[in-house]
Parts: sequence; structure tokens; C-alpha cells
Amino acid sequence: MTPVHSDPLDPIHSVVLRQDEDGTPRTDYLDTSHDPAFLGDGDVLIEVGWSSLNYKDAMALRGDKGVVRTWPLIPGIDAVGTVIESADPRFGRGDEVVLNGAGLGENRHGGFTQRLKVPAAPLLHIPYNFSAQQVGALGTAGYTAALSVDALLQQGVKPEDGEILVTGSTGGVGAISLHLLKQLGFTTAAVTGRVAEHGEFLRSLGASEILERAEFSDAGRPLQKARWAGVIDSVGSHTLVNALAQTKWGGVVTACGLAQGPDLPGTVLPFILRGVHLVGINSVDAPFELRRRAWALLSEKLDTAVLDDMTTVVNLEDIAQAGADLMAGKLHGRTAVRIN
Ligand SMILES: NC(=O)c1ccc[n+]([C@@H]2O[C@H](COP(=O)([O-])OP(=O)(O)OC[C@H]3O[C@@H](n4cnc5c(N)ncnc54)[C@H](OP(=O)(O)O)[C@@H]3O)[C@@H](O)[C@H]2O)c1
Repeated sequence: MTPVHSDPLDPIHSVVLRQDEDGTPRTDYLDTSHDPAFLGDGDVLIEVGWSSLNYKDAMALRGDKGVVRTWPLIPGIDAVGTVIESADPRFGRGDEVVLNGAGLGENRHGGFTQRLKVPAAPLLHIPYNFSAQQVGALGTAGYTAALSVDALLQQGVKPEDGEILVTGSTGGVGAISLHLLKQLGFTTAAVTGRVAEHGEFLRSLGASEILERAEFSDAGRPLQKARWAGVIDSVGSHTLVNALAQTKWGGVVTACGLAQGPDLPGTVLPFILRGVHLVGINSVDAPFELRRRAWALLSEKLDTAVLDDMTTVVNLEDIAQAGADLMAGKLHGRTAVRIN
């Protein structure tokens, strides 16, 4: 059990996203203790210790209406914290818990605040071998990487079937996927737009081959040389279509992201001529059992020293700049957000 420091009369520092009268989004760092609505809704009140910075958070911080569904909003799609009080018997005061997605930072207040009510149903105790900071560093990107790797395993993909391609590989989902695949004995190839800058980093995560993003970014032939037993894609658009076109007979491709775009400008040929499987990954609404399995995979296989090496820590008050840096391609690996 972890001590709870929060006093009900303490200020509650939060990042709040609002719209000016002309609709321009604005991010402020405020004391929200005067308004209980900023605590959100849910059966479990937590003192938030850590959150993380994901691609979606960076979109929210610039007011992207594809992510921000209600105004004003405390962003932050991840919350890692200590239970203050709980109406659900699964949780008691002092328990360390994590919630990823489930609408946090999109249609309900999220983790960029010091105190938050969260729903009990998707809430998990943090794995015993991780610190709260490490769970924050993993965040939705790490959990989504685990959901993606788990999907390959559930579809029966094995190391002896051949290489796994990982796109967006210096990003959060990509980097953690490469590492988990290495720990499971897979051989991987990484696609990146930053070969010169981060090639060594990707090799250290297990990539035996590094491929230029530009080779995947434009329209290609509908069927190409079959190379991959599996693909973990967080990029979408032409990149995903080219990856599908290079997947071997019966191979499995997971799709979770849209860093290049949400479109899928391809043909059905990989499916009908090579029996390729395309598996969608949705971390936000994943049922409890998938969440539990993903975190169990991380707990069992992730080397925390590797995670610590790729983690940058930012303080809550500096989150707006960090979001802009992520969108400008200046970050790699994972960014943990220190809240308390
Ligand atoms: N479905 C879900 O539940 C779920 C969960 C988590 C994340 N996602 C999505 O997955 C994607 C990645 O998330 P993340 O947290 O890993 O983000 P991230 O850390 O920002 O990484 C994204 C990576 O994509 C690559 N990239 C960026 N712009 C690109 C472009 N125009 N064309 C090709 N590649 C590009 C970059 O890798 P390189 O520099 O190495 O090329 C970048 O590091 C996002 O779209 C996010 O919304 C979805």
C-alpha cells in the first residue's frame, strides 16, 4: 500500500483545454480545486502521480476536434495513481492503479491533473515489478504495443514463421513493439524516417534491418515481394497498404494508428491471393481481459532498463511544449509526465 498525500483542501493543479470566444483552443495550467466538475466521474478517486505523452495527447493539446470531444477538457489519455477512496471493493485506499484510454482525455477528464475520478471496470492494479513512473512511461503507447504483439501471438504467429515489420518504429508504439518482439525471440525490421539519427537506437531494440520510411510512403504495386510473417503498423495510409502488399501467405498485420493518415488506399489482393489477416487494435475500448493480458505481457517480458533508457520525463506545467515537440518529430521513445 502506498501512502496518500492528498488533502481535500490542497490545490489541484491541472492542465485545462478551453476555447476562446473565436474558437481558438487554449491550454492553461490552473488550480481546479474550486470546481468539483474537474474531478470527473467514476467509482474510484485517485491521486494521479504519473501520466504520459502520446500522439493523441499531442493532438488534444493543439485542440484537435478528432480527439477533444468536450470542452473544457483536462487532457491525458493515461492516469497512474494511488487510490484515495473507492466505491468498488476491488480497490482500497493506497492501491496503485492504472487506466489507459476508456475516454480519458477525449470525452471525459484525463490524467493531466493531480486528482481524478475514474471508472472501476477498466481499472487495473499496476504490475508489481513496475514503478508508477515506469507505468506512466509505458502509457497507452506501451499498452497498445502489447495489445498488438498479443494479437500476433493470438493469431498464431511464431518466431520461426519469419520477420516482423514494425512501422513508425522510433515512436512509442513502434519502439516498445520492437523490444517486446525481441524478448519473445522474433526477428524484426524497422521502418523509420530517422535512420541516421536513430538507427543505433532501433538496432539496440532488436531491429536487424532498418528501412527508409520513404520506401513505404507512396503508392506501390498491389502485390510486392512477400517478406513479412507479421506487421505492426501505427502509421496507416500508403505505409500500411505497402506493408500488406509485402506480407507473406497467411501473415498477420495489426493496424492501430494513422501517423501518415487514416486512409487505406489499397486493393483486396493481399487478402484474397495471400490470405493475409488485418487485425484492428483499439486500446481505448478494449475489454478488461485484453487490458489484463497486455499488461501481463509487459510485466513478464519488458526489460525495465530498456524502458528507462528510452524515457524522457516532463513536468505537467511543461506539457504544451512537449506536445508541440512530439508533433514536430523532435521526440522519440516514451515521455512520462510527472503530475505529483
Ligand atoms: N488504436 C489505438 O488504440 C492507438 C493506441 C495508441 C496509439 N495509436 C496511434 O498510433 C500512432 C502512433 O502512436 P505513438 O504514440 O507511437 O506516436 P509517436 O510516438 O508520435 O510515434 C509515431 C511515429 O510515426 C512515425 N511517423 C510520424 N509521421 C509520419 C508520417 N507522416 N509518415 C510515416 N510515419 C510517420 C514516426 O516514426 P519514425 O520517425 O520512426 O518514422 C513517429 O515517431 C498514432 O497515430 C496514434 O494515434 C492508436
